[in-house]
Amino acid sequence: MTDFKGKVAFITGGGSGAGFGQAQIFSEAGCKVVIADVRQDHLDQAMAHFKSKNAEVHPILLDITDREAYIKAADEVERVYGTPPQILIQTAGVNAFGPAEASTYEDYDWIVGVDLGGVINGMVTFVPRMIKAGLGGHIVAVSSLGGLGPCATTAPYSAAKAAVINLMETYYEALKPYGIGVTVFCPGNMNTNIHEASATRPANLQNTGYYESPDALEGYHKHNELGMDIREVGRQVMKGIEQGLVICIPYDNAEEILKHELQRMIDYCTPEGLKRLEEQEKAFREQADLPHEDMNSLMEASKLGWSKAKGDIDWVDESRRYTE
Ligand SMILES: NC(=O)c1ccc[n+]([C@@H]2O[C@H](COP(=O)([O-])OP(=O)(O)OC[C@H]3O[C@@H](n4cnc5c(N)ncnc54)[C@H](O)[C@@H]3O)[C@@H](O)[C@H]2O)c1
Repeated sequence: MTDFKGKVAFITGGGSGAGFGQAQIFSEAGCKVVIADVRQDHLDQAMAHFKSKNAEVHPILLDITDREAYIKAADEVERVYGTPPQILIQTAGVNAFGPAEASTYEDYDWIVGVDLGGVINGMVTFVPRMIKAGLGGHIVAVSSLGGLGPCATTAPYSAAKAAVINLMETYYEALKPYGIGVTVFCPGNMNTNIHEASATRPANLQNTGYYESPDALEGYHKHNELGMDIREVGRQVMKGIEQGLVICIPYDNAEEILKHELQRMIDYCTPEGLKRLEEQEKAFREQADLPHEDMNSLMEASKLGWSKAKGDIDWVDESRRYTE
């Protein structure tokens, strides 16, 4: 797809961060945009921007884990714009940081529920409608570089994002006959508001094993501020659609990044490979001691307790628990 004019674009998480950047870029390319978000304040802030530009953007308050609400949102799109979306961009997502071994059922239920469950709900809700409309289209889901490799302090997130990559690759094959393209977008650090994610955590899933003080999250936010600008994120997603990429890693060294991740999996399979990985890890730890803006911001954040377990999780190694 290269012509975006007049197309209906439905963007989850469109009220903030990456989704808001995408909504701007697709709206400026002539799309009729729907921004769906669980936070009314995010929708209001985004709509203030779009109203000032006289842009054709429609907000829908939606929790993507709520299937009934998702169906109503899809009906609303058809009522407002006359067709289901031709462009579906599933960007809404959450994260929380802490040692894998401190994770609770609720950490998994919330994060996997939104990051994988929400994407599944989007596919089940919209794919039949898009096929029936017969207009073709393109579906994007936002995964993460974190979905390509393990991270000991984001187990639910990494698992969900990895599953999204496989899910989208599966749909890529399935939707070819219908003229619907599929892209899974795998960015690294972006300048967004994801440090506020726990504000949307449901009341019944509050029990967490992770330490998340406002200071620790603010430290993490400083790291995000070094990340990709949200309008650039929108441009990269559009480029991925234009080029019909199945996996879109928005960096010049995309192939190198992927080869590195695939090599790790190959190395897991043999004793020689495992030894190579051990040596690499040692070299990485030495590199982490060098001054590096991005790395420094993470080390600063971790001094504030970011990505540690709660102090009372007594089975977790002390070095990974927050203590005053
Ligand atoms: N920020 C990064 O560095 C980074 C890196 C890689 C991938 N990502 C991914 O990018 C995506 C966008 O996140 P962001 O960084 O722009 O964060 P963000 O918090 O700025 O935006 C996410 C939006 O999703 C909404 N949302 C959260 N839960 C929802 C739900 N249940 N239903 C509907 N909307 C919901 C939030 O209200 C928010 O407006 C996420 O999938 C995230 O995992 C982010």
